[in-house]
Amino acid sequence: MRSATSSHPQFATVVPTPDRLAKPTLSVSPSQADYGAQVYWLSCLPCHGDRGQGLTDEFREVYPPEDRNCWNSGCHGKRPYANGFTLPTTIPALIGSGTLQKFPTAANLHGYIFAAMPFWKKGSLTEGESWQVTAFLLRQNGFWQGSTDLDESNAGSVKLARGLVPFVMRQKAEVQNRSGVLIWGVLIGVLAILILVVLILKKFRNTTTI
Ligand code: HEC
Repeated sequence: MRSATSSHPQFATVVPTPDRLAKPTLSVSPSQADYGAQVYWLSCLPCHGDRGQGLTDEFREVYPPEDRNCWNSGCHGKRPYANGFTLPTTIPALIGSGTLQKFPTAANLHGYIFAAMPFWKKGSLTEGESWQVTAFLLRQNGFWQGSTDLDESNAGSVKLARGLVPFVMRQKAEVQNRSGVLIWGVLIGVLAILILVVLILKKFRNTTTI
């Protein structure tokens, strides 16, 4: 029997380009973070990027040419239309190393999102949606497994950033600290020996001139 690819060789090498602006699909039994991915797509992605990278030049290229320069448009420029708003020129990344550092715990992150985001329509998310999108951001950053739902009863104990640096990275940082101490120790030792040698030489010279 001939396989599908050999009977249609022209299709064998076609790799579909993923649509970076497509709505994320839900699995059969979606988790809180899966719902959060949809909230993110609807309310956060246009500003914070499809990968949480922030409003980078690379991300703006995903849009059709007429929509790429947000700040020149009537919607988001200095003098926006009636329903538009001026877009800040920098929009922070939310996913990846070094992001979300202002927020010690998931409760802080949720509080901020619920009160201050989406930027142009603060307070428009429901409590549920803001927990969902918080859970999504935690999962994408590796801070939360998503096996239980995140809410006000547990969010205070879910630590972000420094508190949850993966173990391997923590060990590396310790090794670096220790080698720092070692270098200083050696430097101080070498300096002490040098001073000693200079002192001995001085003494030697003094005694020989007498
Ligand atoms: C219109 C653009 C826009 C949209 C839409 C938007 N944000 Fe933001 N977001 C911003 C800007 C601008 C800042 C920086 C605000 C500041 O520093 O005062 C920000 C900051 C943040 C921060 C703080 C990050 C940090 O490290 O300082 C978080 C968290 C955040 N947004 C989450 C969200 C979530 C979740 C959504 C969707 C529900 C969302 N944002 C939608 C523009 C947007």
